[in-house]
Amino acid sequence: MASSTSRPDGRVRVGVIGSGSIAQIMHLPYLKELDDRFAIGALCDVSPTTLEAAGERYGVPPHARFADYHELCASDLVDAVLVCPSGSHVPPAIAALEAGKHVLIEKPLCYRLDEAEALVEAAREARPRSGAVTLLAYMKRFDPGYQYGQRLVRPLAERGELRFVDARHIHPSNDLYTAHHLVERGRDVPAAVREEGARAHDAAIAVSIGANAPAALRRVFGGMMGSSIHDVYCLNGLLGRPEEIVASEAWDGGRCWSAIFRYPNGVRVNYAWIDVRQVREFTQELACFGGDTRVTITFPSPFLKSAPTIVRVQGMEPPPADPAPYGRPSGEPGWQDPGPAHWEQRVTASHEEAFKREWIHFHACITQGVEPLAGAEEARDDTAFVVEWARATRVG
Ligand SMILES: NC(=O)c1ccc[n+]([C@@H]2O[C@H](COP(=O)([O-])OP(=O)(O)OC[C@H]3O[C@@H](n4cnc5c(N)ncnc54)[C@H](O)[C@@H]3O)[C@@H](O)[C@H]2O)c1
Repeated sequence: MASSTSRPDGRVRVGVIGSGSIAQIMHLPYLKELDDRFAIGALCDVSPTTLEAAGERYGVPPHARFADYHELCASDLVDAVLVCPSGSHVPPAIAALEAGKHVLIEKPLCYRLDEAEALVEAAREARPRSGAVTLLAYMKRFDPGYQYGQRLVRPLAERGELRFVDARHIHPSNDLYTAHHLVERGRDVPAAVREEGARAHDAAIAVSIGANAPAALRRVFGGMMGSSIHDVYCLNGLLGRPEEIVASEAWDGGRCWSAIFRYPNGVRVNYAWIDVRQVREFTQELACFGGDTRVTITFPSPFLKSAPTIVRVQGMEPPPADPAPYGRPSGEPGWQDPGPAHWEQRVTASHEEAFKREWIHFHACITQGVEPLAGAEEARDDTAFVVEWARATRVG
């Protein structure tokens, strides 16, 4: 295999395309922290102010700062690329793969299925040609709390012992969770770049849900791709692929939506995504109901570093061997059998940050040939599902 590996010291030089909020809050700080594995090789942003601010803070010299992602991808300053601009992530990801770079791609991949297919193709071709790894930055799949819950739920689902999942994503304004972070975002993106981005986005929406889709449905589709995608890939990790969209509706001008999905083995998922605006209480919960086990996975806001995902596990104990209370003779008359007891365990699996764990996994994929946890095919199938879901949604 040619190039596209790490340096002799094992460090992978990363170029970041889109140096905005999530790059500055999570990715760049963790790349810096993981400096035994990574070096920040180059940055790219279409906003000169953002590019300069991030470059100065992370010690990336001016010659390694690019306004055009094609130049970053072609440069020999990087071995791998993080794709996290606004808009579709497919064109920069393909440019990186064609240049023999590994790619870590933030969600959402894109807004139209043909683009997702093009990425699958590019990733397939790049792998034997250059050894390039393609990993989706589906960070909640790397979350230790989610993985703890997954170890309990997935076998239940596979054995047909799960009946129902109540999935709630209660979403306040992101500002309530990001304002305390130090983020530099310039307002100097050239008008021509902004207009081209808007044109491409409109074209993608027209292909996926129709050129005449009402504004509320366009908003829902954007929200499903941008935020519900976390639930789509988390549910996939627990239950497999959805088999049917039983019902789906949106209201409140497209700020809230709910649906019922059927998953394998007859599991029904009752789903809701609710924009609660200004109440700072983010809740993303997957309550999984089995016959004799209940597992509830509750995620914190993604913008709170190292805040743990809590897992609650519930079940029943066998009835006591002897209903007589402590200190009384066994079998004493007058003590009715109290029946089995209900127990509940509240688990904080770890404070390891999901965003950091995905970088460690990416490094292992590149340097040790580990199979990526989430690849282009999965993202393509997620894109197909969300397009189908939006099309099936009745806007009230
Ligand atoms: N995993 C998560 O929980 C999570 C959280 C937030 C954002 N994200 C994703 O990360 C991506 C970026 O989100 P954000 O909140 O940082 O947005 P942002 O607007 O703060 O940052 C995006 C940056 O990309 C730049 N940009 C736009 N087009 C570009 C191009 N063609 N080339 C280079 N730079 C370009 C913009 O100037 C901006 O600085 C989005 O896809 C978003 O969905 C993921």
